[in-house]
Amino acid sequence: MKRMRPGLAGRALVRGLAAVLGAAALAACENTPDEPSEPPTLVERGRQIFFNETFEGNGRTCGTCHRAEDNFGLTPNFIATLPLEDPLFVAETVDALKNGFEAPAQMRAHGLIRENLDGFEDLENKFTLRGVPHVLALRTSVASPAGPRTGWSGDGAPGDGSLRAFAVGAVIQHFPKTNNRVAGVDFRLPTDEELDALEAFMLSLGRQEELTLPIAFRDPLVMRGQAIFTDNAVGRCNVCHFNAGANGDPAVFGPNPGNRNFDTGVEDLPDLPSHVTGQPVPPRDDGFGIPGDGTFNTPPLVEAADTGPFFHNNAVATIEEAVGFYNSQAFNNSPAGQLIRQATGTGIALEATQVQAVAAFLRSINALENIREATARLAEALTATDARAAEALLQTRAEIDDAIEVLSGASLSGDAVLHLREARRLSASPRVYDEAWRESVGDAIAALERARVRILAPQS
Ligand code: HEC
Ligand code: HEC
Repeated sequence: MKRMRPGLAGRALVRGLAAVLGAAALAACENTPDEPSEPPTLVERGRQIFFNETFEGNGRTCGTCHRAEDNFGLTPNFIATLPLEDPLFVAETVDALKNGFEAPAQMRAHGLIRENLDGFEDLENKFTLRGVPHVLALRTSVASPAGPRTGWSGDGAPGDGSLRAFAVGAVIQHFPKTNNRVAGVDFRLPTDEELDALEAFMLSLGRQEELTLPIAFRDPLVMRGQAIFTDNAVGRCNVCHFNAGANGDPAVFGPNPGNRNFDTGVEDLPDLPSHVTGQPVPPRDDGFGIPGDGTFNTPPLVEAADTGPFFHNNAVATIEEAVGFYNSQAFNNSPAGQLIRQATGTGIALEATQVQAVAAFLRSINALENIREATARLAEALTATDARAAEALLQTRAEIDDAIEVLSGASLSGDAVLHLREARRLSASPRVYDEAWRESVGDAIAALERARVRILAPQS
């Protein structure tokens, strides 16, 4: 039997059901108002592990860095809101982890996390500092003909590169009580059952399918940005980020190109924030493999605009700068830049107005994705336990805030923003999950739909 809400609607429903089914049904519903009467689904179980399981380590969980209210990633602005007791900061608070475990100055300033992708034997000199990627839309972004591609460089963690193997690697990297990293002493390894649940949960997050471009937008600037993005002789973005996702363009790479690795020269940017800030200055990140070949994995762009800073080392703060990167010497002299030049005769050279237009397009597809996700979370809240409904509402508000920010950050779709503000107000957490709350959720979903319609071209 499905869970029943404890609120007024639930009780009315229970009374109605009792009249039809008799007292036994009533009892079955009433005695478990807030606890699932069935065992949790694999996804639910995965959620519990992701946010609560410390694997007998230093107190961190997966959710310490992949925050539900920060797009399942972690930005410097969010870090700035956390108290020192937060287990993210174990390198500042636990003596055994003070050296060689994290780089606190770069973590706080730029959201960078220490990773020992090439092994743990020389912690002082063999490490990289990487941003925390969101774990959204993984169903669309991990597969390649060469096997699964996880992490910024697609290396995965030790193992086969699958999401399951990556979770094991994450525990060893981020959860130990000391740098000895002895399983059974400094942490315990996840069980097979836990890995199945974590994988199912992660695959359930965010977008489950690719967009199909072009989308008919209302704003001509956004339409222009989309045209530049998808033109393989102008922006050429679609060559690697097909349909603004993480996979290659089949017209360029053949059928089933999957998620590909490229050396786009991000490591060659001068004055990288991680190098300018604090000690230790990280060694060059060599990307995929041991020793690395300098390549990184193509990330999806639908989720990009609200998850900056951008690139594996959080090199730039704004989506405009991330688009502008493709004009740089660093990109155009890189192996990937050279390939583009050979294929089309010129490098990528977008004027300032074109950079702005492409960014406006990326902002708009991001806002549409925020609206889709917020709507899904509101619908989920209506049938969930109170505790889960509260979490779903928190995530809804975070998604709506992101949509407002990515649109108003470039003065886009002003009238959509008005409807988003209304949806935000209607998604407040209630004191009781009653009939009045259910009505406001319905109104919030309607306001989100009005916002979506205003980002898109009027139906002819
Ligand atoms: C201390 C912060 C931190 C914690 C805790 C953490 N992660 Fe991560 N996560 C990262 C960073 C940094 C990366 C990028 C790693 C790389 O590029 O190899 C990452 C990458 C990932 C990716 C790859 C995403 C992609 O798009 O390819 C997955 C999946 C993931 N983490 C899952 C987990 C799971 C599961 C846990 C808990 C067992 C966890 N993480 C705990 C910081 C963290
Ligand atoms: C040759 C393949 C290729 C082309 C062409 C390309 N990209 Fe990328 N893109 C990548 C790779 C690989 C990364 C990851 C680089 C890294 O982190 O070091 C990336 C990262 C990004 C990011 C950062 C995403 C994040 O979550 O941090 C943005 C934004 C982006 N690209 C936009 C564009 C735009 C806009 C264009 C067209 C002007 C474009 N890309 C063209 C391969 C490509």
